[in-house]
Amino acid sequence: MKIAVIGDGGWGTANALLLAGYGHAVSLWGAFPEYIEEMRRTRRNDKFLKGVALPESLVLTSDRAAAVSGADVVVLAPPSKYFAPVMEGFKGLVTNGQLVVSLTKGLCEKTNKRMTELAQEILGLSNVVALAGPTHAEEVARGIPTAIVAACADEAAAKRVQKIWSGPTFRVYTSRDPVGVEIGGAVKNVLAIAVGCSDGMGFGDNTRAALITRGLAEMKRFVFAYGGAPETVGGLAGVGDLIVTCTSVHSRNHFVGERLGRGEKIDDILGSMQMVAEGVWNAKVVHDLAAKLGVEMPICNLVYALCYENYNAADAVSAMMNRDLKSE
Ligand SMILES: NC(=O)c1ccc[n+]([C@@H]2O[C@H](COP(=O)([O-])OP(=O)(O)OC[C@H]3O[C@@H](n4cnc5c(N)ncnc54)[C@H](O)[C@@H]3O)[C@@H](O)[C@H]2O)c1
Repeated sequence: MKIAVIGDGGWGTANALLLAGYGHAVSLWGAFPEYIEEMRRTRRNDKFLKGVALPESLVLTSDRAAAVSGADVVVLAPPSKYFAPVMEGFKGLVTNGQLVVSLTKGLCEKTNKRMTELAQEILGLSNVVALAGPTHAEEVARGIPTAIVAACADEAAAKRVQKIWSGPTFRVYTSRDPVGVEIGGAVKNVLAIAVGCSDGMGFGDNTRAALITRGLAEMKRFVFAYGGAPETVGGLAGVGDLIVTCTSVHSRNHFVGERLGRGEKIDDILGSMQMVAEGVWNAKVVHDLAAKLGVEMPICNLVYALCYENYNAADAVSAMMNRDLKSE
């Protein structure tokens, strides 16, 4: 099978390696020709997925048509901020005859749309499958057992993804609720910043557990208001991904939160990072959308205030603890 992966970040690369390891002919497309050239020379992607060798069979390209023409499967993996412009570049090159899968977590800043919606609209496709769950690229690249969910209103498409991606260390479930799966992926990154902030302030397990649990309640309300199934939040793309992001050393969003908790400024933190922290962008979309939908999201809103309104971590704690008392 010929597979094209669009996006040479850590997650696009880890998926390209997984699929190439199954014997598929995989091409990996990146937006920056000089960096693609460097990867070709070194057979490594040290900027986004350190310490992993790229097999000779993996085709590295910045040529859009060469990447996707003749591909049976097209995998979309740019960060959410660049997703729409990257899709614009592939207009007319990706067609309904191809199985299209989105790995990107987040919502569009301008339109508040989910990534599969955006891809469908821009590329003119009838169905794009969302593939998400508790999956750090670094661990998938090392073959650590991982489970994920393939979600699409078209169950047959989700089942095709399940069959292609499943292997000895990678187990895929299916779901017919792409809304729940994609919203879970966007909100958990915002909540990870809150948990990181608590850890950075030197708080303990009680605070972390409270933030994860009450964060999950926010995620459930948001999924429901957006039109998804609240029970999806109990699955891999909801609670599963929230646990991994809030407790892992690999989580960049947690790391951003930790530094905010230690008193650093958001611009300094972001300026020092190569990789993306989706939670910072998504804090804004979630904040704006929650206001529009009338959903109560106190933790996510405080993360927004920390990232965009110069709020400091101590004020956030006080705001959180002094909210009106209520039943659970
Ligand atoms: N890394 C993971 O473990 C992981 C796991 C699951 C899902 N995801 C999701 O995958 C998506 C991609 O994240 P990642 O971790 O692979 O990214 P990354 O931080 O590893 O890499 C950043 C990517 O953005 C690209 N980029 C930078 N500026 C750009 C521009 N102006 N235009 C187009 N592309 C540009 C870079 O070339 C690179 O491919 C995100 O939505 C993320 O939430 C990541």
